[in-house]
Amino acid sequence: MSTDNVAITSLDAAADDVGQLVARYEGRVPRYTSYPTAPHFTPLVGRDVYARWLAKLPADTSLSLYLHVPFCDRLCLYCGCNTSVVRLETSHRAYAGLLMREIDRVAALIGRRATVSHVHWGGGTPTSLPADCLVAIMEKLKDRFTFSRGTEVAIEIDPTSLPPDRRDALGQMSVTRISLGVQDLEPAVQKAIGREQSYEETQACAEEARALGVGSLNLDLIYGLPLQKTAGVTQTARRALALKADRVAVFGYAHVPWMKRHQSLISEDTLPGPGERFAQRSAIHRVLTREGGYVAVGLDHYALPNDSMAKAATAGRLKRSFQGYTTDAAPALIGFGASSIGSLPQGYVQNAPTAVAYAKEIETDQLATVRGIALTADDRLRRDIIERVMCDLEVDLDGLAGKHGADPGQLKATAAGGMPRFVEDGLASWDGGRIAVTERGRPFVRSIAALFDAYLNQAGDKPRHSRAV
Ligand SMILES: C[S@@+](CC[C@H](N)C(=O)[O-])C[C@H]1O[C@@H](n2cnc3c(N)ncnc32)[C@H](O)[C@@H]1O
Ligand code: SF4
Repeated sequence: MSTDNVAITSLDAAADDVGQLVARYEGRVPRYTSYPTAPHFTPLVGRDVYARWLAKLPADTSLSLYLHVPFCDRLCLYCGCNTSVVRLETSHRAYAGLLMREIDRVAALIGRRATVSHVHWGGGTPTSLPADCLVAIMEKLKDRFTFSRGTEVAIEIDPTSLPPDRRDALGQMSVTRISLGVQDLEPAVQKAIGREQSYEETQACAEEARALGVGSLNLDLIYGLPLQKTAGVTQTARRALALKADRVAVFGYAHVPWMKRHQSLISEDTLPGPGERFAQRSAIHRVLTREGGYVAVGLDHYALPNDSMAKAATAGRLKRSFQGYTTDAAPALIGFGASSIGSLPQGYVQNAPTAVAYAKEIETDQLATVRGIALTADDRLRRDIIERVMCDLEVDLDGLAGKHGADPGQLKATAAGGMPRFVEDGLASWDGGRIAVTERGRPFVRSIAALFDAYLNQAGDKPRHSRAV
C-alpha cells in the first residue's frame, strides 16, 4: 500500500460533509469474503464436483482448514452467524463424530497427506464441544494431514463459555491464536443485545489463554448495535486497549432480520442511524490508531505494527477469506462442518447449512456439499481486483488484467463510469489505470469493490446485504 493514500485525508471530516457521504453510499453491498459471493452459489456444484476437485488438488498445494461448530450456550440477539442454542452433550459428541468422519472422507479423496498451514475453528462457539472431542478432532487432523511448527491454529471463543477443561484443551490443541467476542462493554447495550459479559470475564479469559502459551489475541468489537452511543463505544475501545490484543476486528452491526429471525427482537428504533454508525466507527478508529498504536488494516481490522497481519498489509500480501482478513496464503481452503465453505483452485463449495442436514449426508458416508460455483476466467480476474481493493485499498487494473491475460478495456470502462463520484468525494484517486482508496475512503471500500462485481444488480440478483457503512 502506498503511504500517500493513507496520510492525506482523515476521518474527521465536518459533520455535514460526512452526513452527505454516508447518505450517498448508504446502499447495501456484500462484504466480499468471496467472489462470486455465496448467494450466487448453485446446486450445479455438488458433492461429485467437489470430489473431483479434491482429487485434482496439485501435490504441492498447502491447505487451510476451517471447522464450523454451529452450537452456542446462548443466542445473542444481534448474532448473524450460522448457529443455534444446543446444550445437549450427546448432540455435541455426535457432531464431533461427524466432523471426524468428514475429515477422513475428504483426506481419502485428496489421496495424500497434504501440508496444512492454517486451521481456523469458527462458529457458533467451537468450545461448546466437550474438551476431549476438541482434542480428538485436532489429533484426527494431525493424523490425516502434515502439520509443521509454523501451522497457525486459531479459535473463536465466547469468554463466558470457556470452562476450565475447554481452556486446558487449548494447549493440547496447539492453539496459537484466540479470538474473543467482546462487542460492547456497556451494560445497557449488553442487555439490549442479550449478551451480558463483564470486562473481568473477558480479561480472565485472555490472561488464562496467554498463560497456556497461546501467543496471539484477537478481539471482536461491534458498532451500530442497539442503544450504542459514540461515547460508549469510545469507552469500550479504551477498555479493550488494556487487554493488549495483537489484533482487533471492528464490525458494523449487520441487521438482517429477513435472514436472522431472532434479530427482529431488536427494536429498530433503538438502532443508531447511518450518520451515528459512522461516528461510532470513526471514534473506535481514533482510539485504536491514536491511543493504541494500531495500524488500520483493510475495511475493519486493526493490528499492532509488529503483528503479521500489519506486515502482510504493508507488503501487499493480505488475503480475504470467509474468516475475513487473513495472512494465510494457502491456495485451497477446506471447510468441515455444517454450512462451511471451501475455496479450491477450481471454485467454491458449501456444505449443507443445518446440523441436521449435514448429519444426514455424513452419516451415509457422503460429502455434505450442497452448492457452490465453478470460477470462470472473468470471475478470477474480478475476484483478484476485488480482493486487492479490499486488502490493499488500491489496484492496478492494467497489471492485474495483464496477469490474467485479459483486455483491461472493459474494466477501465467500468472504472471510468463509477470512479468519478468517489474521486469527487475524496474517497479515492483514479488515474485511468490505478485506483487508490484514500484513508477517508476506507469505510466505503466495499462500494468501490462493488464496481467490479458482475453479479451485483443483475437481473435475478435478489440477495439483500447489510449496510455499506
Ligand atoms: C462466530 S462469531 C462469535 C464467536 C463467539 N461465539 C462469541 O460470541 O464470542 C464471530 C464474531 O462475529 C461478529 N458478529 C456476529 N454477528 C454479527 C452481526 N450481526 N453483525 C456484525 N458482526 C457480527 C461478532 O463480533 C462475533 O464476535
Ligand atoms: S455471537 Fe457468538 S455466542 Fe452469541 S449467538 Fe453468535 S456465535 Fe453464539
